[in-house]
Amino acid sequence: MRAIVVETPGDPEVMHLGEVPDPIPDRGEVLVRTRATAVNRADTLQRRGLYPPPPGASEIIGMEVAGEVEALGEGVDWCHTGDRVMALLAGGGYAERVAVPAGQLMRVPDGMSWTDAAAIPEVFLTAHDNLFTRGRLGAGETVLIHGGGGGVGTAAIQLAHRAGARVLVTAGSAAKLQRCRELGADGGINHREEDFVARSRDLTDGRGVDVILDVMGASYLARNLDALAPDGRLVVIGLMGGTITDIDLGLMLRRRLSVLATTLRGRPVEQKTEVVRRFVEDALPGFADGSLRPVVDRVLPLAEAAAAHRAMENGENVGKLVLSVD
Ligand SMILES: NC(=O)c1ccc[n+]([C@@H]2O[C@H](COP(=O)([O-])OP(=O)(O)OC[C@H]3O[C@@H](n4cnc5c(N)ncnc54)[C@H](OP(=O)(O)O)[C@@H]3O)[C@@H](O)[C@H]2O)c1
Repeated sequence: MRAIVVETPGDPEVMHLGEVPDPIPDRGEVLVRTRATAVNRADTLQRRGLYPPPPGASEIIGMEVAGEVEALGEGVDWCHTGDRVMALLAGGGYAERVAVPAGQLMRVPDGMSWTDAAAIPEVFLTAHDNLFTRGRLGAGETVLIHGGGGGVGTAAIQLAHRAGARVLVTAGSAAKLQRCRELGADGGINHREEDFVARSRDLTDGRGVDVILDVMGASYLARNLDALAPDGRLVVIGLMGGTITDIDLGLMLRRRLSVLATTLRGRPVEQKTEVVRRFVEDALPGFADGSLRPVVDRVLPLAEAAAAHRAMENGENVGKLVLSVD
């Protein structure tokens, strides 16, 4: 089959289409014929040699696909060949075929295109798990979503708004903040021009926010803790601002704050299956009733994966960069 291969880690141009052996589905897995995949930040790190796939996962970049079920491994009985599915992957998405644990599959909502469906799994599952299961965000609470214009951000805004939370976002331009408002954000903060701690306090009558979904890590930790209301929860899912910093435990004690940090990719299949199950039950119907929609910035052919990586690294995208696979 054809797949994007990287012989030497580096800039986007190290990615090129090559021939690799077809995957064979193991027990409990399904072979999917990929029709579209999508780009995630982690893909750009993997391409540079900074984020190896977890043990046992495909070496091919790509953490999500939409496509047709082509074959079933032993012990899989809930889907059939030809079914339209979208999948969360530990790797292997930038390819014509991928083997996926059956619990990581979801049915594509009726009438949805392959390229829209491929924009859903990684960012919507990440946002759903971290906002609700980890962050325990409830209706009537206020959430601050950093990087609101990104793939995870655009999914998180919609999910939090749909759940009845008040949504504040940070983004790096007026145009991105406007797109965030169109998706359901109630307040926007330009992180290049404004202090998000002071602004989020202004926007909550001085109280602070209940939950923060953070993609920056170390560079935002102190300010994130400062922006939280009593009993607030900081959920760190990205480390674009580094990994190591000091932490004020006194502030955490006084305000009863929690800091959680997690990644979806490295979790065991059973945990991913549970993340998918919760999302399917709670949120998937939102794509049919119009309360949720995939946000696709642009679609490029798989052979142009390098251009898509460049666009993400330049911060051009609002929502997802999707790659179509013929
Ligand atoms: N833990 C997990 O399981 C998991 C899963 C998926 C993704 N992630 C992580 O989540 C992050 C987002 O991923 P993605 O695929 O959505 O990437 P993306 O589409 O590139 O989104 C990242 C966004 O962050 C914004 N940003 C950059 N610097 C910022 C700052 N100082 N303050 C606020 N926003 C800033 C960027 O644009 P602007 O600066 O122009 O606003 C961009 O919109 C990445 O760090 C990724 O590794 C984690």
